[in-house]
Amino acid sequence: MTVKIGLIGAGGIAQSHINALKKVEQAKIVTVFDLNTEGAQKTAAALGARVTESADALLNPEEIDAVFICVPQFARGDLEEIAAKRGIHVFVEKPLGLELESVGRKEQAIREGGILTSVGYVLRYYDTVQQAKQYLQDKTVHLIQAFRIGGSHPAPWWKQQHMSNGNLGDAVTHQVDMIRYLVGEYKEVTAQFGRNTIKTQNPEATIPDAGAVTFSMESGAVGTITESCISTYHSGSEIKIIGPNFFLQLTGNGKTLTIIDDQQNITITSKQDPVYEQDKAFVEAVAAGSGEAILCGYADGMRTLAFTLAAYKAAEERDTVTI
Ligand SMILES: NC(=O)c1ccc[n+]([C@@H]2O[C@H](COP(=O)([O-])OP(=O)(O)OC[C@H]3O[C@@H](n4cnc5c(N)ncnc54)[C@H](O)[C@@H]3O)[C@@H](O)[C@H]2O)c1
Repeated sequence: MTVKIGLIGAGGIAQSHINALKKVEQAKIVTVFDLNTEGAQKTAAALGARVTESADALLNPEEIDAVFICVPQFARGDLEEIAAKRGIHVFVEKPLGLELESVGRKEQAIREGGILTSVGYVLRYYDTVQQAKQYLQDKTVHLIQAFRIGGSHPAPWWKQQHMSNGNLGDAVTHQVDMIRYLVGEYKEVTAQFGRNTIKTQNPEATIPDAGAVTFSMESGAVGTITESCISTYHSGSEIKIIGPNFFLQLTGNGKTLTIIDDQQNITITSKQDPVYEQDKAFVEAVAAGSGEAILCGYADGMRTLAFTLAAYKAAEERDTVTI
């Protein structure tokens, strides 16, 4: 079966999906919509696809089996709900939104519509992350130490807190998600965010330039995540997961895994393209009518969003927030 796909948003991440989907045998992008008509036309022409006049017109079940929603989180409106009501399967980029009310409504519509969903927590698809997950299954973790430090997304929307939810909400959400994926659910969070440099460097920006988040997990483990989006001379990401009888570390957004215990001291770097693995899993799931190979569905992605929102609330209220 060929899975006919509509693409909403033809910006940076959409181009990564286009490159990945070209290699997925069953996938065919047939329609494209972007507010930037020129960008949509250029993308569609390269694919032999058609540009639709609106996002609503693209969500036509007569023409597509699945939609890839690749517009930023502030620009999604009720696209997921419309798709669910029309029986169109949904791939949607992370993060799922900026608040929980509309995302919860969408999650309900998705459940009622019985469609398949996949959320772009793409790092879950690395074989190294899968290996880490398997290794941790019977381990007791007591400490998690994570960071993601680097530059910022070039688009103006990204530097507006009400459009992106900042670095923690948009980029570090991958680390937030990976900790959940590997160690289980968060319980409580406290946090502080700074604007020490960004307020003079970029007075238009409303996002923090750094954050320090402390959390506990339902398992009893505790941990920290620190982040910066304006670091010029140092960048990288790391999650260290520590137990009394092992040490596990993921660096490079999960690409490289180190495990040290009594039996081993190994470091493995993945050769996989996780975007390809993620998109292939979704397309094949749609073709087969079964979502088993999808590693993050909508309800799961919503819990990752809940953590980010709780961290910002904790910082604002200078209090501990229960997730
Ligand atoms: N999974 C990942 O690793 C990953 C990586 C990068 C971006 N993302 C996510 O993908 C989303 C898009 O990011 P990006 O980097 O492609 O941004 P971008 O700014 O490069 O592109 C956004 C595109 O959306 C279009 N657009 C904006 N509002 C629209 C609307 N209302 N209707 C139709 N089109 C609209 C813009 O014209 C632009 O072409 C964000 O949610 C981001 O967090 C995920």
